[in-house]
Amino acid sequence: MNQVDLVIRGARVVSDHQIIEASVAIDGEIIVAVGHDDLMPSAREVLQADGLFLLPGAIDSHVHFRDPGYPHKETWKTGSAAAACGGVTTVFEMPNTNPPTATIDALNLKLKAAESSYVDFGIHGLLGDDTVGHLEELIDAGVTSFKAFVGNTFGNLPSPSDGALLEGFEKLAPLGIRTVVHAENSSILARRQKRMQAEGRIDALAHLAARPVVAEIEAIGRVLTLAEWTGARVHIAHHSAADSLFLIREAKRRGVDVTVETCPQYLLLNTDHADHLGGILRLNPPIREARHNQPLWDAMMDGTIDMIATDHAPHAPDEKTRANIWECDCGFPGIETQMALMLTEVNRDRASLMDYVRWSSVNPAKAWGIYGTKGVIAPGAHADIAVVDMNKSGILSENELQSISKISPWDGRAVKGYPIHTLLRGRFVMRNGKLVTEAAGWGRSVKGIQAMPKAKPLNTEHYTSAILKTPEGVRLTAEPKR
Ligand code: DOR
Ligand code: ZN
Repeated sequence: MNQVDLVIRGARVVSDHQIIEASVAIDGEIIVAVGHDDLMPSAREVLQADGLFLLPGAIDSHVHFRDPGYPHKETWKTGSAAAACGGVTTVFEMPNTNPPTATIDALNLKLKAAESSYVDFGIHGLLGDDTVGHLEELIDAGVTSFKAFVGNTFGNLPSPSDGALLEGFEKLAPLGIRTVVHAENSSILARRQKRMQAEGRIDALAHLAARPVVAEIEAIGRVLTLAEWTGARVHIAHHSAADSLFLIREAKRRGVDVTVETCPQYLLLNTDHADHLGGILRLNPPIREARHNQPLWDAMMDGTIDMIATDHAPHAPDEKTRANIWECDCGFPGIETQMALMLTEVNRDRASLMDYVRWSSVNPAKAWGIYGTKGVIAPGAHADIAVVDMNKSGILSENELQSISKISPWDGRAVKGYPIHTLLRGRFVMRNGKLVTEAAGWGRSVKGIQAMPKAKPLNTEHYTSAILKTPEGVRLTAEPKR
C-alpha cells in the first residue's frame, strides 16, 4: 500500500461487540486498515494514542441548531462546533426553526446555513397537516427523515391531526423513511397548563405537573398503533418515563419498526435537582421523579431503548432564568457534554464501552440508514473517530461550551472520561480538546450515503391513496325506490 495520510497506533478500538488492540490507517476520508501495527502502511502522520480508546464518532439523532431563525440561541457553526468538541461526528437536526423545515425554500435556507458545519448531518423535515401533501418533494430536495411534534414544544408548531399523521405514515411507509415523534398528548398539556396558570401557579414543578406521564403513555400508544397499521418506521424522541416502556417492549415484540432514544438528562437528573436549577431544568418532556432514572437505564441495557441522543436545545441564559416557569424557554444544550457524562457512567461500571458505542453510534447509524459507512471503525468506513481518554477527569463548565447557550444543568458536575480528539472523514475537527477552527464547513449531508432497509408497508389497500377513487363496478348509491 502506498503511503497513507494517518496511522493511529497504540489505542484500543471499540465496537458494539469487542474491544481490540489495533492500529488504524486512514487515507483521505476513509479507514483503509485496522489491525496489527506491523501490518500498517507507512503514513505521513502518526498519532500515538497509547492507553486511549477509539470509538466510532457519536451520532446524535436529535439536535436543534436554531438556524435559520434564532441565531442568538445557536447557529450551525456554533452548534456543530459543540458537536465536534463532544466527540459527535454526525447530527440529525430538527425542523422547529424559523421558518420551520416545512417547505423547499425553508429547507434550502437550512442547507445553506449548514454549509458552515463542522460535522456531517441529516435534516429532519416537518411532518404536519400542511406538509403531508409534499413529503416526496422534501425528500428529493434533501431531507433524510421527518419529525412530528405530536407534543407541543418550543416554536409552537401545531401538532399534526391524527388523520394527517396516519396519512403521513401511509406515504412514508412504502419509502422506508423513519419519522421522529415527540410523543406527548398536546391537548392534555395545554389544558393543564392553562388551568394552573389561571390559578397562579408559576413554580418550577408546575411544568412537570402540566405534563404527566399519562400524556407520554397516550401519545406513544397512539403513534405505535398508527405505525404498526401502516408499517411505517418511527423513532420515539427523548423517552422520559418508566411507565411508558411497556408499550415499546410490546411493540418491538410484535415486530413494529420502532427505535427509541433517551437523553442523559432523563437518565441522570430528576426533580431532586429542581430546587436549585429552577427554569434551567425546564424541558419537554419534563425531567421527572427519581424513580424513572434506573428503569430508563435498564431499558438501555436490555435494548428497549436503542440509543442516546441529547435534544441539544440551546436558549439564551435570560430566556432560561425568568421567575415565572411558563416564561422560561424549554431545553438546554447537551451535545458537548453527552459523551463525558456517559463515559463517567461507564467508569462507574454501569455499562461497558461496547454498550456505549451501541447507544451512541451503532444503533443511530442503523436507524437512519448510514451504518457501515458510519457507526463503525472498519476498512471502507468513513474515518469518523472519537479518541477517548477514560482516565481524564474534570468538571463540566457552562462557560467553556462552544454553544452560544452558556447555561447548563451540568455546570459544576464532575466527570471522568473525555473525548480528546475528534476526526470527521479523516480530518481533525477537535484536537487536544480544542476546536480546529479551519475545519468549519467540512461537514456535509449524509443524504448521499443514506440507504434505508427495504420498506415493509402494511394494509396498503386501506391507505388514503387507495380509497380516493370509486372502485369499478361499484354502484354510486342504493337503487332508487320505485
Ligand atoms: O425542551 C425542549 N426543547 N424539548 C423539545 O422537544 C424541543 C426543544 C427546543 O426546541 O427548544
Ligand atoms: Zn427536541
